[in-house]
Amino acid sequence: MASWLLFSVFSFVLLLPEPAVGITRHYTLDIKMHTVTRLCHTKSLVSVNGKFPGPKIIAREGDQLLIKVVNHVPNNISLHWHGIRQLRSGWADGPAYITQCPIQTGQSYLYNYTVVGQRGTLWYHAHISWLRATVYGPLIILPKHGVPYPFPKPHKEVPMVFGEWFNADTEAIIRQATLTGGGPNVSDAYTINGLPGPLYNCSAKDTFRLRVKPGKTYLLRIINAALNDELFFSIANHTVTVVEADAVYVKPFETNTILIAPGQTTNVLLKTKPSYPSASFFMTARPYATGQGTFDNTTVAGILEYEQPKHAKTNIKNLPLFTPVLPALNDTNFATKFSNKLRSLNSEKFPANVPQKVDRKFFFTVGLGTNPCNHKNNQTCQGPTNTTMFAASISNISFTLPTKALLQSHYSGRSDGVYSPNFPWNPIVPFNYTGTPPNNTMVSTGTNLMVLRYNTSVELVMQDTSILGAESHPLHLHGFNFFVVGQGFGNFDPNKDPKKFNLVDPIERNTVGVPSGGWAAIRFLADNPGVWFMHCHLEVHTSWGLRMAWLVLDGDKPDQKLLPPPADLPKC
Ligand code: C2O
Repeated sequence: MASWLLFSVFSFVLLLPEPAVGITRHYTLDIKMHTVTRLCHTKSLVSVNGKFPGPKIIAREGDQLLIKVVNHVPNNISLHWHGIRQLRSGWADGPAYITQCPIQTGQSYLYNYTVVGQRGTLWYHAHISWLRATVYGPLIILPKHGVPYPFPKPHKEVPMVFGEWFNADTEAIIRQATLTGGGPNVSDAYTINGLPGPLYNCSAKDTFRLRVKPGKTYLLRIINAALNDELFFSIANHTVTVVEADAVYVKPFETNTILIAPGQTTNVLLKTKPSYPSASFFMTARPYATGQGTFDNTTVAGILEYEQPKHAKTNIKNLPLFTPVLPALNDTNFATKFSNKLRSLNSEKFPANVPQKVDRKFFFTVGLGTNPCNHKNNQTCQGPTNTTMFAASISNISFTLPTKALLQSHYSGRSDGVYSPNFPWNPIVPFNYTGTPPNNTMVSTGTNLMVLRYNTSVELVMQDTSILGAESHPLHLHGFNFFVVGQGFGNFDPNKDPKKFNLVDPIERNTVGVPSGGWAAIRFLADNPGVWFMHCHLEVHTSWGLRMAWLVLDGDKPDQKLLPPPADLPKC
């Protein structure tokens, strides 16, 4: 009787349908110093769990994540879960001084959020100063149990994270640049999963190798965690099929090369050769650079290796090694074509819910500028001239980080002296944005927020400027995905351009490259109460002030309100 009962209890459990709600997953991320050697340079860097790059975090759509971050390093720290919508859980978003004060040495903070309506490749990174140079890792959201991908099931899934390696201490680099007003030193190498590969001196042993079997499909989860560079990526003698961008499925298309900006993620399917090719293949990445400043123009390489048949005679090391041809470093033509190919899948199961009506339209400029040299005793600066320092702005406001967290100030009703709720709808002084730049390149400074009522449908045009040179800017919005309804070159024309907007299947993402000397138009529904940072994901531009924040107010219903702050929220 008892065993029958036990059996029936078991079968009852087995027959239960998959829970509609997810499970809770616990992680502990210890932020520690860790010694790493690359290019024959050894340094102590800030790492996650003594790993570089950091460990992979995995969840399923619908799961709750409880991630305890413990700070064992001298630096203040905060972590951002890049691309996670953070519905009502803005306290867990992570940008320092925006949604939280940083976690101080010896302290910890439990990031608590649920993944709602998202699946795909995202990532996490430090969100304070330049610590994301070494503090980053993949954040992979699998579909719910039993829900297939809208493409053939891959044989294996492989994260490929691009990063930048600096022989010097990156905190010292940005500190120096902030003091002198000059451009920060560029990186010494790019990396794939932390490895620069054989094209650099003293680096051959640090090469990422992707070992594959013939006739199989691999899902590459590509993440650009580089600090300051958009990257082209290609695999010799292979094409890939792009199936997802920023954790949103796209209409699949084939390409030899992808372009990926810092902050963006791209999933591609790699179909291996049907039979053993007796060759190996370089997988290389190098920058797409449009600005006038110096940049790291080197190439990172990994190697695609086919598993050898049992009785293969040649040593794998002696096989011919093919090299891909990457676009030129300034190939804007390729960039335009590539971004035009990206369309939302927009299927019945994965519709593109593009806002069709717009409540508020905004026009922001994004670009560089200057501040006066602030040195005393006639000491010169190293900005564009020796009396100026580099700056960057949105609508000519170079955003100053407050010393108290914005979200806390808003929630507690004590925003006086912390921020001004008056970010301009349009640039205060209009000019020919992409024409001959104005003589006065000075920016203003402030902590200005754009306030939105709950559920406002927003259209935002971001216009690059030619001040100190036009440049492609990957703009990232926290707390939302947006639809890129239009893109173009020159000045946005409010009469003509909107007629060409794609309101059917535009790409949905969290980071968009505003074309160099052009504009991008996005739409999103402000259905997530909180304070949401928006900034250029080129870290140097963020540091210079190319950032602002949106404040989305609570809605009337209880489930339209920001959750209360957790008890362990760090204090400033
Ligand atoms: Cu990936 Cu605000 O950052």
